[in-house]
Amino acid sequence: MARVVDAVYLKQIEKARRLLRALILSKQCAPIMLRLAWHDAGTYDATTKTGGPNGSIRNEPELRHGSNGGLEIAVDLCEGVKASCPKISYADLYQLAGVVAVEITGGPSVRFVPGRKDSVESPGEGRLPDAVKGENASHLRDVFYRMGLSDKDIVALSGGHTLGRAHIDRSGFDGPWTKEPLKFDNSYFVELLKEDSPGLLQLPSDRVLVEDTEFLPYVELYAEDEEAFFKDYARSHKKLSELGFTPDYMGLMLAKLKLAFTSARGH
Ligand code: HEM
Repeated sequence: MARVVDAVYLKQIEKARRLLRALILSKQCAPIMLRLAWHDAGTYDATTKTGGPNGSIRNEPELRHGSNGGLEIAVDLCEGVKASCPKISYADLYQLAGVVAVEITGGPSVRFVPGRKDSVESPGEGRLPDAVKGENASHLRDVFYRMGLSDKDIVALSGGHTLGRAHIDRSGFDGPWTKEPLKFDNSYFVELLKEDSPGLLQLPSDRVLVEDTEFLPYVELYAEDEEAFFKDYARSHKKLSELGFTPDYMGLMLAKLKLAFTSARGH
């Protein structure tokens, strides 16, 4: 069940979007915001319908999971936005931050639909993919298939590593995947296909994308055709951000109409 999205809620979403743009620009924190959105959503289990984009990553025990190292920075940065837009759920706020992070760095527009509910319950540790175990394609498939995602989603979403870098004190890895880690483009795939990319990082879970015969054609396509990457990425990102969430499109339309009507009347 989605939460009710009325005109007041929608107005706060619009405000949060503006605040997030300013915050991400001034703090240059697009990469960690995208990682926050992904780690909140990526715990989803389609069988038990637990985990997913429900804001639970802010709960202390989940934030302390090994895979979430450093994400308290992103959670704290979002608190300022939450204070100015108190009605919106953390779940919506984190997913909106991910969408804005991609857009503001030059990536595709990902349609954002509000209405996610927050959960005070957190899933157990170990639901997110592991960079080392990811040297086996079967590990990535186990994790992403559990969410209900496909091989194409795995490759497209891995393109999120076009942004940001690894930090030795957070994950034990170091360095960026691309030469311009604040620009969202298809260079992650271009670098993956090169013999070697001095100074750039490739995790075992990145390399497996060129080693596996099912993944490789997508890597080749995205390296060659940025438009194809953007189209698939936007679709997969929307799916990821809506795992376990059924948007109420009718309610949303009514809220939009009401908002347009009240602003036209100058209220
Ligand atoms: C496929 C399995 C994946 C694995 C094993 C993985 C692993 C990692 C690791 C180890 C880091 C370094 C964290 C640090 O030291 O700060 C990282 C960073 C990052 N990941 Fe992933 N990741 C995966 C998929 C994804 C996906 C699907 C996205 C987004 C759609 C994503 C977005 C990011 C971003 C943006 C960063 C940089 C964060 C920063 O600069 O602070 N990753 N990832």
